[in-house]
Amino acid sequence: MSNYHIKHLEEYYQVYRKSVRNPDLFWEEVAEEHFLWRKKWDKVLSWDFKKPEIKWFEGAKLNITENCIDRHLTTRANKTAILFEPNNPNEPALHITYKELHERVCKFANVLKSKGIGKGDRVCIYLPMIPELAVSVLACARIGAIHSVVFAGFSATALSTRINDCDAKMVITSDGSYRGDKSIDLKCIVDDALKSCPGVHSVLVVNRTSSEIQMKDGRDFWLQPLLDKADAHCEIEIMDAEDPLFILYTSGSTGMPKGMMHTTAGYMVYTAYTFKNVFQYKENDVYWCTADIGWITGHSYIVYGPLANGATSVMFEGVPSYPDFGRFWEIVEKHKVNQFYTAPTAIRALAKQGVGFVEKHDLSSLKVLGTVGEPINEEAWHWYNDNVGKKKSPIVDTWWQTETGGIMITPIPFATPTKPTYATLPFIGIQPALLDEQGNEITGNQVDGRLCIKFPWPSIARTIWGNHQRYKDTYFSAFENMYFTGDGALRDEVGYYRITGRVDDVIIVSGHNLGTAPIEDAVNEHPAVAESAIVGFPHDVKGFALYGYVTLKETGESRDQDNLRKEINQVITEHIGPIAKLDKIQFTSGLPKTRSGKIMRRILRKIACKETDNLGDTSTLLNPEVVQEIMDNAL
Ligand code: WTA
Repeated sequence: MSNYHIKHLEEYYQVYRKSVRNPDLFWEEVAEEHFLWRKKWDKVLSWDFKKPEIKWFEGAKLNITENCIDRHLTTRANKTAILFEPNNPNEPALHITYKELHERVCKFANVLKSKGIGKGDRVCIYLPMIPELAVSVLACARIGAIHSVVFAGFSATALSTRINDCDAKMVITSDGSYRGDKSIDLKCIVDDALKSCPGVHSVLVVNRTSSEIQMKDGRDFWLQPLLDKADAHCEIEIMDAEDPLFILYTSGSTGMPKGMMHTTAGYMVYTAYTFKNVFQYKENDVYWCTADIGWITGHSYIVYGPLANGATSVMFEGVPSYPDFGRFWEIVEKHKVNQFYTAPTAIRALAKQGVGFVEKHDLSSLKVLGTVGEPINEEAWHWYNDNVGKKKSPIVDTWWQTETGGIMITPIPFATPTKPTYATLPFIGIQPALLDEQGNEITGNQVDGRLCIKFPWPSIARTIWGNHQRYKDTYFSAFENMYFTGDGALRDEVGYYRITGRVDDVIIVSGHNLGTAPIEDAVNEHPAVAESAIVGFPHDVKGFALYGYVTLKETGESRDQDNLRKEINQVITEHIGPIAKLDKIQFTSGLPKTRSGKIMRRILRKIACKETDNLGDTSTLLNPEVVQEIMDNAL
């Protein structure tokens, strides 16, 4: 029996039991057999969910890029590591071999060093999906700098908040980015952001669009001339197992985005191990995850997990609708993709266009299909299964989070029988629990509750950068001795899990986590707005969309409401980014509040979802009359 590569359901259960009975021994074997260590660990695991403090492979020394690149050079030097497919289908794809990746990463790492970046420094990466994004991530890891990638759809304000929170010294960006038939001036956004980031000393700029941009003397540098001069050899920095690898921001229900900090060894072991099993990757397969590296899915399953396995990982710059809605399938056919991993929102958007675009292409290379980021509805699941997978490629519905670093609940293809809308069984080593609101564990099957995890796994985030108390409060305080996910789930009669959605004020729109409070803060910045409350409502493509209830400062004012709606969305775009725009904005004379002044979101949510039959008790409200007004004018 191989611990590393699970092929049958029986094997899954056996390995699972082993991983739970003796986690230390289990993870030690995986780590020992499949990775390169400069020094082995003194202790596999020490943990305390009360503090909380979690350490894996303490005392070990390694570098993750040696595992992701260097060690493949003897057997896979000429194998494609990264297969770059540009936005424009007429621009040739780029096959970057492991040997070339090694050279690119070393040169980039030397450029970082020449600009004064070293171990422990934070580097903010704000790039489109071009090879330099993966290369710069790896270059940071090679020299022990901590990367913090910010999705290039975020606004200048959102970018500067993240840069300042982690005190980044450097920003890596490009002149512009291509997305479908649009191009975006990224460097201008960075210039704007940096007006309020005194800690940034240097900016490296990739030439992607050759657009007109301004370069600030002494601060901004074109990357290419620096790379041309750089040495193609760069020794790895030897890192401790628990040295930080990266910070990645995710929205919380309130306040600032949370800088989730991941460390080196555990993250590497877990992402590599999950990648191998969840996608059943075989040596010459071509694997494609359509996520952006600006999100955790791209970190773990475009860069680190695949490369640690010596895989070929496709990186796509564009969007699914350009030049037409057949682009994904054209790419699958062109590169003979074997594993395809995407988000339910993309599946729903493509399903809406009919099967014509799918049928035009030969998808016979596909073996495994995956989804991630939000619950997949039954209709989308069947469309994907029937038309893309032709009922022969299992769908892995993978549940996990930025905080978990790697996939947590998922089928193992060809082993676990799938069930539409179910993420099915916990992955090896993962011990889920369902809890009721009082904190009691709900045992047995056919139950639902709040999804928690009882025991640490190697890639759990170790803290929120600069705010350990918030880490403790958010994840370890709701239930004693448990990691609380913020999601609800149910367990069926055979023990399969189905994720039912967030139980807090995070709304997942097109697979992006959005906290309502920061968006409300942005809306309230509009000079005409007095107060606002944002809730989610079901949307046939996005999963959920945002519904804002807004009260104005001068209620009698007869402003053009449509104009005001546009302005409010513009403010959101500036503060957060276009992904947080409101689909519906209802102006109202007041918001329903409890006597202590808290907005009753439950009621607003029901109205937005058109579930007004049972609004529950509204008599305790401070202003019950406003509920009728809101219902009468609901959009
Ligand atoms: C949701 C993405 C249902 C969930 C990797 C989680 C899912 C949040 C699934 C994390 C799934 C992710 N089924 N819901 N398969 N996968 N989610 O941090 O609510 O961007 O808490 O990580 O997405 O989103 P994040």
